[in-house]
Order: sequence, then structure tokens, then C-alpha cells
Amino acid sequence: KKLKNTILVIFGITGDLSKRKLLPALYNLERAGLLPEGFRIVGVSRKGTEPRDIIRMLKQSEAGKQADCPDICEKLEKILSIVDMKLDEGDTYAGLSRELSRIEAEAGRPLNRLFYLAIPASLFPKVTERLAEADLNMHENGICESRYLIEKPFGADLASAKKLISDLNERFGEERIFRIDHYLAKETVQNILSFRFSNPLFNGAWNNRHISHIMVTASESIGIEGRTAFYEGMGAMRDLVQSHLLQLLALATMEKPKTMEAAEIHREKEKILAAIRPPEPERMKEETVRAQYRTYRKETGIADSLTETYAAVRLSIDTPEWKGVPMFIRTGKALKEKVTEITVVFTEGGAESLTSARADAAGAEIKRNYLTLRIQPNEGIAVDLDIKKPGLDEATQAVQLDFCYRDAPGFEQIDAYARVLYDGMRGDRTLFATGDEVLACWRITEPVLRAWDSPDFPLHFYDNGSAGPEAADELIQKTGIAWFTDS
Ligand code: BG6
Repeated sequence: KKLKNTILVIFGITGDLSKRKLLPALYNLERAGLLPEGFRIVGVSRKGTEPRDIIRMLKQSEAGKQADCPDICEKLEKILSIVDMKLDEGDTYAGLSRELSRIEAEAGRPLNRLFYLAIPASLFPKVTERLAEADLNMHENGICESRYLIEKPFGADLASAKKLISDLNERFGEERIFRIDHYLAKETVQNILSFRFSNPLFNGAWNNRHISHIMVTASESIGIEGRTAFYEGMGAMRDLVQSHLLQLLALATMEKPKTMEAAEIHREKEKILAAIRPPEPERMKEETVRAQYRTYRKETGIADSLTETYAAVRLSIDTPEWKGVPMFIRTGKALKEKVTEITVVFTEGGAESLTSARADAAGAEIKRNYLTLRIQPNEGIAVDLDIKKPGLDEATQAVQLDFCYRDAPGFEQIDAYARVLYDGMRGDRTLFATGDEVLACWRITEPVLRAWDSPDFPLHFYDNGSAGPEAADELIQKTGIAWFTDS
């Protein structure tokens, strides 16, 4: 898809997301020469902000450390304008409309409009309603169009997600809405499908006849970093599992799409998500764990908070290919290290060997055929194999084949948010979540959240900087296996 000339309108340009991700992403795009000729940015702010204030924010990020920062910042400042607006006041949208028309008059033609709603989800309905009233989204004239980039959370549960999705779709149409899941835009996540479907060596064995279980780990070393209003009541299940981690699991288990077109990829992803099952209601205590890091309550000042900063869950997939293969997901904050990985364990006998591995009391080491897709930070792929121990010995020993992206010739990682903006500009929906995917993810997480609401459901605690709660180790050990990360 071709890049078209675009005005990027950022709602919330002075906010946390803009500062940490969007401005640096724009910086990287400009630096790589990837912004289209005549590209313009309009920041919406209610604080009487000037373009130079925004550029100052950018300079405080990593970008400020680059040698070419002054040049790039100067260019960005020139293409940036700010519109003062109160998001809930209809009248002030006229100012935005005027600014967009002014830019188009200057360009001598209409331009694509990309609205980035980097604002709390509670404001989406109001803002989109106002945009519609001000005719700002009625820009379909065959030459250019309006698109909407929106950030999660897409709802707080299945019912609210349904409403949000149908309201926005009614207003703009699904094809204009780009729901961001920035994990999908990570290079290593995009590689999951390429790796699986270009390597018959693995793809031929990608099923329950050869795979005994899959583990997805996303641990973070940071806590909630003062974002209490965002995190309290959200928790790890909604924040990471419902979105990023179920997307990772879907990519790791979906069928090969007919083509690599966005629509075909989404079709297969939606199919597998619809087949992922949470634990049965009576198994919730055995197959899910919620926990909180020890200093959370003190840090937030909410002495009785039940919000989980750690979640672990055992899922299954109701398809012939994956019958009997448990899928384990865990994520948490304030843990020992930052690492996101997917490990696929190949065993003789596949799903059935989960039981035989446990029964192997002779002390023989379980064959290690672990394939680990290291999503971050040490991006790469590792395969643990057993080989004959060199020498006279008949025994086997574990060895590892290891590929690191950073060693690949010419490898330059495109930051996920740069990719999100770039794909938004060219209208490529492949790396965004469809409404049906989001709803399917809520269908999987909702029964777990409902079980966790019950007053007698345990909330475990874990030390900051630890590997997580013991209960999560027990959850997986019940099956005779253990968590694994390669890093
Ligand atoms: C966000 C979550 O979606 O992802 C944050 O809201 C989390 O809580 C972040 O810290 C992790 O992203 P990354 O790219 O640093 O792994």
C-alpha cells in the first residue's frame, strides 16, 4: 500500500503516551526519511501549548541524545501546529476544522486525515461524536479519507467493548478504525507467522501430535510507575492478557492464511481466538492465579486494592490440531526482569507426552526440544536440542541453536509505534486488531475476571524484583512441567 499525504491529528499530544511513544516514533520516521512529502502534524491540547513545548518534550526522551536531534527537531517543529481545544466543547472543534482547511488550502488539495486518539477511552464517545458533528470525519471524496487510530483499553469487559466497538463502527465504519495493539507491530511478533509458515521443518510438526505445550511469558521489571488512575481496576488480565498476550497466542497457533493479505490473516486469527477456551468455572482456582506485588497498595494508597499486577492462566484450544495441548500464559509487573517470550515445546507423542513426561520416574531427562521466540528484549530465536555427548559416552546433552536479530546483517529495528503510524498513514490494517478479535479476547478473559470477582478468590502477593508468586509455579507444576524463559 502506498503512503499518501496526511495530516496527523494527535488528541492528547501533551500526554504520557505522546511523550513516551508517539513523538519519538515521529522522530524516528523523519530520521529514516519515511514521512511523506508535505506531511503535517496538528496537536490538540487544552493547555495553551506551543509547538516548541512539544519539541522540548521530545528532546527529553532518548531522541535528545542523538547527534542529529537538533536538525530533526527543527524539521518537526516546522510541520507541527497546535490547536487549543476543550475536548467536550463542540464549539471548539470549529477551530480544528479551520486549521485542517488552512493546511489543505496551503497544500492546494485535500489530504488524508489520521486522527490519533491518545486520550482515555472514557472520552472516545464524546470526542468522536464532536468530530462527527463538526463534519471532521466526512472526508470521503475518493481522493483521500479520514482514519482513526485508537488505543486500548477497548472496553472494560465484553459488554462495554461491544458497545464501544459498535458505536465507533456505526460512526466511522470498521475499515476506518485502526485499533492499536502495539505488540502486533513489533518486528519479532510480525516474524511469528513468517517463521512458522516459511519453515516446513517446524510447520509440519506444529500441532498436538508433536507439541506438548506452549508457554507465553511477558514479565516486566517496572511497576505501575505512578499510573494509579489507569491501572487500578484494570489489572494485568485486562491490560496485557486480554490484548497483547492473546494476540501472541493467536499468532502462535492460527492456521496458515490463504494469502498474507490483511483480511485473510484476520480471518484465521479470529477463527483461532474463537476456539480458545478459559478454564472451566470449577477449575478456576487450579488453573488461574492472580497476584499483586508487595508494595502496590502502599504505592497507590489503596489499602484494600484487589487489582492484580500478575496473572497466570492455563487455556486450551478447541480444535483438532490443538486438542489436549495446554497453553500457559503469565504476565506481571515489578518482576526480576523484562522479558517477553513464546516457548513451544516439542515432544515425542505431543499432547499425550505431557502425562508420560510426568510419569518418567526413572530419572531420565525429558527430551528438550524447546523452540523459543524471544520477542524482547534480546530479540531472536533459540532452539534447544539434544545431541549425543561427544566421546565414548552414549548419553545425550542439551545444546542450543541461537539466532539474535542484532547480529543479522543490516538489521535495523523499526520501533513499534513508528510502524503503527506508518501503517495508519498508508491504510494497511494487517497489524491492527479487528473488532471481532477484541471481542473474542474478551470472551476468553471474562469468565476468569468473573471468577476473580468472587470474594473468596485468592489474591497472592509476591516480592518486588522476584520471579512472581509461588502459586504460578504450582499452577504449571501440577502438569509436571515448569515455566521456561530462554533469556
Ligand atoms: C501497555 C500496557 O499496553 O504495554 C503497559 O498498558 C505495559 O502496562 C506496556 O507496560 C508494555 O509494553 P512494552 O512494549 O514495553 O512491552
